[in-house]
Amino acid sequence: MIDVTVTINGVPRKASVPAETTLLKLLREHFMLTGSKLGCDVGDCGACTVIVDGKPVNSCLMLAAQVDGREVITIEGVGKREHLHPIQKMFEEAGAVQCGFCGPGVIMSAKALLDEKPDPSVADIRDALSGNLCRCTGYTKMIEAVQDAARILRGETAAKPRQLELSK
Ligand code: FES
Ligand code: FES
Repeated sequence: MIDVTVTINGVPRKASVPAETTLLKLLREHFMLTGSKLGCDVGDCGACTVIVDGKPVNSCLMLAAQVDGREVITIEGVGKREHLHPIQKMFEEAGAVQCGFCGPGVIMSAKALLDEKPDPSVADIRDALSGNLCRCTGYTKMIEAVQDAARILRGETAAKPRQLELSK
């Protein structure tokens, strides 16, 4: 067993887990944070994406031991049902979520992007979401939703027609 001390969504947490425990397992099974999804379990689908020290990672590929002393943000730390984050709100408004399984991972990848780059190009958004597989939406609505959320987070209130800014 190994001891892990980690800050999750701003709250210091401790766990004692088998050495082979992944970060995803630590979140879902030890801390009951089940918003991060277990899809492929081999780093292909991005459903398990969380943010570690500001960077998006596949939590199924990271060991719990690797986050000792670090800061993790999961979908539970992004918004609440009654108080959605602008990215979540825009995904909902744009119709960018269908079955929803990929949603938490996509939102985390989008958040990591916008935290670092408040005015991303379409290419930046595509690149940021490239590790998140979605079998339902075709991605266009997701890209629009990230653009809309970026505008809100930049404090731009004027509504822009929702369309891909392919020139950016
Ligand atoms: Fe981690 Fe698919 S469950 S990448
Ligand atoms: Fe179904 Fe993305 S909305 S997999």
